[in-house]
Amino acid sequence: MNEVVKKQFDEYKNLIERKLDEYIPVEYPEKIWKSMRYSVLAGGKRLRPVMTLETCRVLSGSYENAVAAACAIEMLHSQSLIHDDLPCMDNDDYRRGKLTNHKVFGEAAAVLAGDALLSFAPQIIIQKTPKTVSAETLLKVLEEFTVAAGAHKLIAGQVVDIESEGKQISQETLNYIHENKTAALFKLSMRTGAIIAGTDEKILSAVTEYAEKIGLAFQIMDDILDVTATLEELGKTPGKDAKEEKVTYVSFYGLETSKKQVSSLCSEACDILKEHNIQSDILREIANSINERVN
Ligand code: IPE
Ligand code: IPE
Ligand code: MG
Ligand code: MG
Ligand code: MG
Repeated sequence: MNEVVKKQFDEYKNLIERKLDEYIPVEYPEKIWKSMRYSVLAGGKRLRPVMTLETCRVLSGSYENAVAAACAIEMLHSQSLIHDDLPCMDNDDYRRGKLTNHKVFGEAAAVLAGDALLSFAPQIIIQKTPKTVSAETLLKVLEEFTVAAGAHKLIAGQVVDIESEGKQISQETLNYIHENKTAALFKLSMRTGAIIAGTDEKILSAVTEYAEKIGLAFQIMDDILDVTATLEELGKTPGKDAKEEKVTYVSFYGLETSKKQVSSLCSEACDILKEHNIQSDILREIANSINERVN
């Protein structure tokens, strides 16, 4: 990502960090709030909420109207990671360069922190979105959020991911896992920004198509990094996919083919932006830099 775009990205990111800190107080019982804050404020890349804000802005909306929803999406993402790391799921000790939530707070608190974030996120959308956003738009945003978070999308992907460990699965099933466990959240992020901007159906589907490609490319890259990167780079333990006998793009297609797939998905995503005249340096650079990322 070039310096100018990185600066724009970091401005959004800093805003998200500030708002997340403000939205999640430490209340009684402190243990749950501290556990929620531990994971949410652990310093992720904040890619999804930045995409929400930038999509809203580039489609002529006020990105300020999307800040609460963007933070809610980051809470949902953090929730999915807390639960993904549990011993009964991927059994991971490190996340975002720190010990995983259950390692610090215990399994019960980690399960409950995830649960709490999942319901706190839509609460924040309802309570913190500016009143200038219509009730109708808010309802659409909440529908997008609840569908993406639940058994039709994210959870569906996670269930099939876990069920597929150690098995031979089809290409369709592998895509089903990646599209639901990961791409669904990217779609949610961008569709939320677009809906708050009040965009038309044509642009909404273009944005959805871009997010599908980026989301899939992002998860393929995650599969690649699990094999090629270090703990220091990743902030999470590498080599875990093979250890847990996960079916990934790398185990299915090998490293080289997987890398090519990331590149072609990203260039297709760039083409969608061009075709629809969506002039966003950040969205273009995200597509251009996924195959360079190291964490
Ligand atoms: C990790 O997502 C989970 C996947 C979908 C691969 P990120 O790589 O965006 O994690 P953070 O938010 O930067 O920690
Ligand atoms: C990410 O899948 C999907 C979700 C957390 C929903 P992974 O299990 O591959 O993510 P990491 O590698 O643990 O971040
Ligand atoms: Mg997993
Ligand atoms: Mg995992
Ligand atoms: Mg992974």
